[in-house]
Formats: sequence, structure tokens, C-alpha cells
Amino acid sequence: MTDIDDAKGKRVLVAGATGYVGRYAVQEFKRSGYWVRALTRSEAKLRQAGPFGAPAIEPADCDDVFVGEITKPSSLDGIMDGIDTVFSAVGISRQRDGLTFEQVDYQANRNLIDHCAGSTVRKFVYVSMLGADQIADLAITIAHERVVSDLASSGLSYTIVRPSGYFSDMGVLLDMAKRGRVFLVGDGNNRFTPIHGRDLAGVCVEAARGSDIEVEAGGPDTMTQREAALLAFEVAGKPPRLTVIPLWLAKGLASGIKMLNTQFGDLAEFIVTAGEVDAVAPHRGRRSLKEHFEHLLEESSA
Ligand SMILES: NC(=O)c1ccc[n+]([C@@H]2O[C@H](COP(=O)([O-])OP(=O)(O)OC[C@H]3O[C@@H](n4cnc5c(N)ncnc54)[C@H](OP(=O)(O)O)[C@@H]3O)[C@@H](O)[C@H]2O)c1
Repeated sequence: MTDIDDAKGKRVLVAGATGYVGRYAVQEFKRSGYWVRALTRSEAKLRQAGPFGAPAIEPADCDDVFVGEITKPSSLDGIMDGIDTVFSAVGISRQRDGLTFEQVDYQANRNLIDHCAGSTVRKFVYVSMLGADQIADLAITIAHERVVSDLASSGLSYTIVRPSGYFSDMGVLLDMAKRGRVFLVGDGNNRFTPIHGRDLAGVCVEAARGSDIEVEAGGPDTMTQREAALLAFEVAGKPPRLTVIPLWLAKGLASGIKMLNTQFGDLAEFIVTAGEVDAVAPHRGRRSLKEHFEHLLEESSA
């Protein structure tokens, strides 16, 4: 049986469809033979390309677009009609809605779980984070892991995907390298396995079909943040100029920001803490960071 035969008749809801991972997930589920419903708060945004190479969702990429506000459960009535699998990559990365990780990363996903009750949904695939136990006290981790524990007690069959850093964040490094200087939080010697959104989406589709409860996913290269930055300079054709923001200073700045604004403070705290720990996952992706940087550079100079 082919993968497409296996997925025949399966209907998936993709939440977070306008995001970096979500866009690739919509396309990968469709390519694998699923009937796909994309949840978005803006169909216009879905139809435009996302940052760092993430694709626009064309009409042929999905079967149905459900426009709703995931943070407002009453706008989701009927969302699970006919659906057997839910995939969610909803969470805050660069959003400026003034909402907290608790309100989005936890509660919005909780709203989806609640809508599964009494529906045809049997399986839930949720994108959390790698190494949550190393950064368990952060607001983002607490929110993600509450979703994980709610799924465990939901009665649904579920898979938690735990990825290493995304290529979307690496795109920020390339942008800095093009401008001539990369800022690193900490010495940049922590190791990780960055992964392309399309490779990660492939892992997510496999997770939807499989029975693993947890799946860790990294790209093909294990590298340090410093090596990723040097690669960005190499591809950009610029002499490497790194500025290290010492951890003590970054932590002080994050605490200061948190006093002024909880959302930005929590995000800053996450960026600082992530600069301290390793996040190495099994090599599930095949697209290299070098190829990705080259592709982004080619696109920006076209
Ligand atoms: N970046 C990494 O390296 C990394 C590593 C491991 C895990 N993760 C996790 O992976 C998940 C997906 O990351 P990503 O980079 O794909 O994020 P992203 O590009 O920001 O996409 C997040 C999605 O969530 C939606 N969303 C956010 N705030 C919302 C709100 N207030 N109301 C409605 N929808 C909202 C976004 O909708 P809009 O487009 O309408 O804002 C978007 O569809 C996140 O939970 C993140 O924590 C990230």
C-alpha cells in the first residue's frame, strides 16, 4: 500500500496554517493524500507567502478553509465536522497580539482539544518543543507541556512532535549576516539540529499515521549556534563579525523587559535560556542549512 492509499479518506484539520510549520504541513498532508481543512484567522494571509521561504497556500493545497479565532471557542463551531485527525502548530513566535503563552500556546490548543470531544476526531498531533525538561520553568514550556498533559488525559490517540530549532529562526541569522554583524546570546557553543519546515512537516504527517506518542526531529546537521552564524556569513559572502551578548547581560535585559511587558519578557527569557542549552534531535530532515541559506539569498537577489 502506498502512503497515498493509506491516507485515502482521512480528513485532517491543520491549525496554525499560516505559520512557518503550518504552511508546509498543509501542503504535506495534501500531497500525502489527506483531505485538508486549514484553520486561519485570515484567509488573505494564508494565500500570501510567509517569511523565510514558507509557501503561500494555493487553492489546490487544501480542500477547505475555516476562518475562525482559535482563542475564541465560539468562533470554532463546526470546525471538527467530518475531521478524524487534528494537527496543531499554534503558538506565539513573532505575533504582537498582546497575548501570553498561556493564552495562545496553552489555551488556544486547549480550545481545539475541547472541540474534539464528541466529534469524529480520533488523533491529535501537536508540535511542542525539544528538551522541555531542561527549560521547564519558562512560560512557553509550561504552556506547551500543559497541552501535552491535557492530550494525555483526553482519551484521544495523540503524538507530540518535539523539533529542534527551525530554519525560520536561522533566516534571522542570515539577515543579520547580510547586514554585516550577527548578535549571539551567550557564547553560541550550544549544539542543535536545525530543521527545514518541509522536512518537519513530513515528520508530522508520518506521526499522524503512526502510533508513537513522542517523536523528536532534527535536520541533517548537528552544529553550534556560532557555526550556524559563521555559515550565514560564508553564504552571504561577508567577513564574519560576531557580537556576543553575555548571558548575565541578556538575562538582566530579559528581566527588565518582563517588568514592562509580560509577553515580550517571556519571549526574551526563552531566547536567552535557549542560548544556554543543547537541543540535539535525531536527524530526520534532509535539507541542509547551507542549501537553505543559498536558496534564501538567491530569492532575495532575484
Ligand atoms: N521556532 C523554533 O525553532 C521552534 C522550535 C520548536 C518548537 N517550536 C514551536 O512550534 C510551533 C510553531 O512554530 P512556528 O515557527 O511555525 O510559528 P509561527 O510561524 O508563528 O506560526 C504560529 C501559528 O499560530 C497562530 N497564532 C499565533 N498567535 C495566534 C493568536 N493570537 N490567534 C490565532 N492564531 C495565532 C499563527 O497565526 P497568525 O499567522 O494569524 O499569527 C500561526 O498560524 C510553536 O508552538 C513554537 O513554539 C518552534
